[in-house]
Amino acid sequence: MSDTLYDEIQREIAKYPDRRSAILPALRHAQEHYGWLSPEALEAVADGLDLSPARCLSVASFYDMFFLQPVGDHVVEVCTNLSCAMIGADKLLKEFERELDVKAPGTSADGTITLRCVECLGGCGWGPVVSVDEEYEEHFKIEDVAPLLERLRSTSRPSESHA
Ligand code: FES
Repeated sequence: MSDTLYDEIQREIAKYPDRRSAILPALRHAQEHYGWLSPEALEAVADGLDLSPARCLSVASFYDMFFLQPVGDHVVEVCTNLSCAMIGADKLLKEFERELDVKAPGTSADGTITLRCVECLGGCGWGPVVSVDEEYEEHFKIEDVAPLLERLRSTSRPSESHA
């Protein structure tokens, strides 16, 4: 575990009477460090909290915000829950899949954009909601898909860095 991640986890633990209560922020820090919750990242969290990696994985797997597989430079998440589904989320998702030539959950062949479906993002009155690198875009329309992907591709790392 890097010193920085270890220190961050220890600072989170200090905020709670029980060190295990710091599991969500600890997972968050580990994901920021590793890019996703790899076995190594889960091991780091487990070591810091004195839990098993399996316990950390079981908690992480409950939340959409944690990535249990590697992701691209950008993460696009389409809410497909009821309110968004009723106003076109499925069509939006299909358009993203067509443009990226990938089935959600998955990452474009050039490694730049990961597409995922997520449960309700809490913006039901402003749907369909699409999360782009954790920033919510509301009332998202099919014609917004291509310009968004173009913008994201222009701010991605060169493909050779996706080793
Ligand atoms: S159902 Fe999509 S934000 Fe709630």
